[in-house]
Amino acid sequence: MTLIDGKKISDQIKAEIAAQVEQMLAEGKKRPHLAAILVGHDGGSETYVAHKVKACEQCGFKSTLIRFEDNITEQTLLDRIAALNADPDIDGFIVQLPLPRHISEQKIIEAIDPAKDVDGFHPQNVGRMAIGLPCFLSATPAGIIELLSRYNIDTRGKHCVVLGRSNIVGKPVATLMMQKAAPGNATVTVCHSATPNIAEITRQADIIIAALGQPGFVTADMVKDQAVIIDVGTTRVPDPTRKSGFRLRGDVDFDNVAPRCSYITPVPGGVGPMTIVSLMKNTLQAAQAKN
Ligand code: GUN
Repeated sequence: MTLIDGKKISDQIKAEIAAQVEQMLAEGKKRPHLAAILVGHDGGSETYVAHKVKACEQCGFKSTLIRFEDNITEQTLLDRIAALNADPDIDGFIVQLPLPRHISEQKIIEAIDPAKDVDGFHPQNVGRMAIGLPCFLSATPAGIIELLSRYNIDTRGKHCVVLGRSNIVGKPVATLMMQKAAPGNATVTVCHSATPNIAEITRQADIIIAALGQPGFVTADMVKDQAVIIDVGTTRVPDPTRKSGFRLRGDVDFDNVAPRCSYITPVPGGVGPMTIVSLMKNTLQAAQAKN
């Protein structure tokens, strides 16, 4: 069994990005600049955004964190997005999800200029991805593809079972895995909450991508020998032995599943760091497109 080290790969990619930024600056170009909007104080979102800001520093990017309280109006947020769209110093920006219930996430996503949509959530980027055109790929699916690529994991003709159909992970990763490209070219099955016989399907999988947000959902009896397991879950579960009082748990019962696999991602340290580095890659791409 090989542990897929997302932390190590993401550190390598951040160093590659930092070298490219140095090159850009040496050519007299401006430093890439990512802005992040964070609404409210959700613990998970606070952590993700803090990691994104830190990654910007490591890549040599400028970053701006814009905070609003939970009671912000949708219009105020839309106005701020319009200002970021118009700001020539901002190469790309993200609005951390989820948003409070009184704000339409879809309306917010569609207000972002697709050329600055480094999350790849705007329908224009999603549509371009679906038909294989250049675009901003959404960060988690792009990170998964990068891991498969850097570990030389063969996906062509393999049966890839995706668990979960979210717009952020399940749908786009299924699209990328079926795309006529490498990594890709897989036969893809997507299972979700209305799938009655999930274990029967996962047992046929050469590759399982678990993105349903149910800790420990994938158990050893659901996995065929030598399968590749990509665990996207990051649920906070109580852990009194930690100072924070919680730890992150994936969608896979790691201890029992790992011995059966050829490759598996840990949680934390697998897909998570790759998601952040994919956002950095998109920001660099946005900056290069403008320069
Ligand atoms: N919430 C969970 N994942 C993400 C992400 O990749 N981007 C944004 N903006 N919000 C998220």
